Amino acid sequence: MMPPLGPPLDRVDGRKKVTGGAKFAAEHNLENMAYAAMVMSTIPSGTIRSIDTAAAKRSTGVIAVISHLNAPRLGPAPGQPPAAGQPGAAAPPQQQGNFAEPQLIPFSDNKVHYVGQRIAVVVADTIEHAARGAELVKVTYDETPARLDMQQFREQGVDRAKSLFTKGDADAAFASASVKIDQIYRTPHEHHNPMEAHSIVAAWDGDHLTLYDSSQNIFAVQQTMSRLFGIPKENVHILSQFVGGAFGSKGSTWPHVVIGVLAARMVNRPVKVFLTRKQLFFGNGHRPETQQRVALGANPEGKLLAMIHEGMSQSNDVCTYAERFVRPTKAIYAVDNMRAINPIVSLNLPSPTYMRAPGESPGMFAIESAMDELAYALKMDPLQLRLVNHADVNPEDGKPWSSKSLKECYAQGADKFGWSKRNPEPRSMKSGRDLIGWGMASATYPAHRSPASARAVVKSDGTVTIYTGTHEMGMGTATVMSQLAAETLGIPVERVRFEYGDTTLPPTPISAGSMTAASVGSAVFGACDALKKRVAEIDGVDPATINAESYHTILSKHYLDDVEARFDAKPPQQEPHATQAFGAHFVEVAIDQDIPVVRVQRMVSAFAGGRILNAKTARSQYFGGIIQGIGMALLEETHFDKRLGTFTNVNFAEYMVPTNADVRSIDIIMVPEEDHDVNPIGVKGIGEIGIVGVAPAIANAVFHATGKRVRDLPITIEKLM
Ligand code: MOS
Repeated sequence: MMPPLGPPLDRVDGRKKVTGGAKFAAEHNLENMAYAAMVMSTIPSGTIRSIDTAAAKRSTGVIAVISHLNAPRLGPAPGQPPAAGQPGAAAPPQQQGNFAEPQLIPFSDNKVHYVGQRIAVVVADTIEHAARGAELVKVTYDETPARLDMQQFREQGVDRAKSLFTKGDADAAFASASVKIDQIYRTPHEHHNPMEAHSIVAAWDGDHLTLYDSSQNIFAVQQTMSRLFGIPKENVHILSQFVGGAFGSKGSTWPHVVIGVLAARMVNRPVKVFLTRKQLFFGNGHRPETQQRVALGANPEGKLLAMIHEGMSQSNDVCTYAERFVRPTKAIYAVDNMRAINPIVSLNLPSPTYMRAPGESPGMFAIESAMDELAYALKMDPLQLRLVNHADVNPEDGKPWSSKSLKECYAQGADKFGWSKRNPEPRSMKSGRDLIGWGMASATYPAHRSPASARAVVKSDGTVTIYTGTHEMGMGTATVMSQLAAETLGIPVERVRFEYGDTTLPPTPISAGSMTAASVGSAVFGACDALKKRVAEIDGVDPATINAESYHTILSKHYLDDVEARFDAKPPQQEPHATQAFGAHFVEVAIDQDIPVVRVQRMVSAFAGGRILNAKTARSQYFGGIIQGIGMALLEETHFDKRLGTFTNVNFAEYMVPTNADVRSIDIIMVPEEDHDVNPIGVKGIGEIGIVGVAPAIANAVFHATGKRVRDLPITIEKLM
């Protein structure tokens, strides 16, 4: 009944977006609204000695200057458990893994943990007056020695994520293997840089809060506000209708959100906060720097005998985030002896967070680069090496896969790319002045799912509205959910309205981890299926006889204005299968012999992500991931100055992201995959797998072209000179 490849419907909100009808958080303007501008710390470690606000307060239009000196303490009342981030605190269970709780509660004391910490806010009548006021706030500090270099403190790395995984005896197996690779790979700090800057509009009415937030996690923001401001959850109304990209950076209640809400309460007016591009680089999360050792041992036929993956990533003392780069290690290849661990090193840098395919994306750069090195050591085709080590069951726990079509991805991708014509010798392929290189890598990302709820209401005119809290960050949720509802009910999609982005609607999880379609989709499917059955029951007919016209006919016949059904979808307690999406990238690079700029000439990427709800929005998601992967491979890096303790290239002139000129031919193959076990709708999620494996596929192509192995991203001209 459900085709594995859904129809390529245009976005249901496309017209609104291109005509300006889509309202993003910062576009909400309320009566008597004031504006807030952040003051950021300029030292990485120490305490604030004084804050001189006299000049700021005299400045035109300034209403208030708020800092730890005059802000009320936020958090649970005395006697209650401490707030997260405070000593002895634990995140509430429903938020664990969500990173929703602000781990650094703004203005709670005079401590400075990193450069860019929001230490004060200026509220004024216009955004310009607020910004001018913020410039006039004078802060003095007592500096303490800062921890700024991951290398220097690597001995103090801790495994806060409890990531250690062992199987067999990896060190012994590695020692006795006849072919070995043992290398260090590095990935830099990267920032998400969504087009839409983080912003909020907060308004209080007594002890009721309304908050327009550019968020991918509204229910967690609601929970956090309830805890911090000591008001019932029902009093907190969060709205997030349109989000202009997030990539993980809008999944947490970052300090500016709490500060804006606090400011609105203190000045007794609605307040708008709109962060500048520079401010976004400090304190809204980033993908932290990693250093990874991968050691692979194999027999002469290429069979992996040992796999060791360890290293470290940057974190800090006010967050719990660890970059889990060993997650894919446990899922990608069959190997009996494995050790994997991803400790963190706590430094005086802003808090890192999820960024598109956290863990998998940096982790697979290391693994898939090492696999390519192993293929050369074995004098074996890199694709053949992957086939020899194909994991027929999940390497982590031996569970069977709910479905896995990686071999089809390899076969179809290789065929379309023409991989069999590759001359394996580095520097052997040329075109004019260009060295040509062909590289490949595998991709994988887990098929997650969280509890989600939805309500479906059919009216006697035969139209249906779906209500569910979720978010739309541009990935096409509103479109695919409308399609899924229409298909389940057996009505044309034009008769479906999809209402979302609002905490008064049925609860849904964070839109992250590639799990929105699977989680919210299971709820929408459940609600529509229940609604269809209910309508059939009203008329005493078999649900199979219900068609597009039945809703109008039956409701009219029984004098009903509307009928509704709600469904609370939950993942099973015990999951007998391992659930994971897979894919493969094939890349051609062209590199000028004198000025070694790497151009990604063409890519063929094949993915199997379960059922695809909409071929068009899915392709767009894959494109987005791949293009971000090209950025990761060649351009993206947030430079950190270890003397000043600050990120330096904090603007779009110096933080490079791919433009159209960097992107040439990308050919996406969607391998049809039916999966009856992953969830009721057979969807695995595709938001992140696109980026996984792109950087190593490009690095491998660069090696093939030049004979130079670059093990630290990005692959810039200097590294190839
Ligand atoms: Mo994502 S990094 O799961 O928004």
